[in-house]
Amino acid sequence: MNQSARDATDNPARPTAGTVLCALDELTDPGSRGFMFRVGDQLFLGFVVRHGGAVIGFVDRCPHAGMPLAMAPDRYLTREGDQILCASHGALFRPTDGLCIGGPCAGRTLTAWPVAIEAGVVRVAA
Ligand code: FES
Repeated sequence: MNQSARDATDNPARPTAGTVLCALDELTDPGSRGFMFRVGDQLFLGFVVRHGGAVIGFVDRCPHAGMPLAMAPDRYLTREGDQILCASHGALFRPTDGLCIGGPCAGRTLTAWPVAIEAGVVRVAA
């Protein structure tokens, strides 16, 4: 897999706008869920976080070493549910905007993956 292409907008595996991700009810608040899309040998990994009533999406790629964040499926949040945790080296990110507030990539941000809620369904946004 080409790491640099994983989150590129020309990645053929990146789902198009309108793709259904999950029902809003499937996400606890706070909560998170990961998604993987594959086309041939290309992968796109993304995740969504429900936090304070909002749902925010990010590309599942840590700005530190480019690793996916979760050690276990759908486990993107700290135990308290108030921050996003990269399991590889412990970076912490704000769920509202993906800014790294502690760890080896402090000051950098996760790449946004726009999502929208429509009629109780979380979809990929344009
Ligand atoms: S890869 Fe995320 S903290 Fe190192």
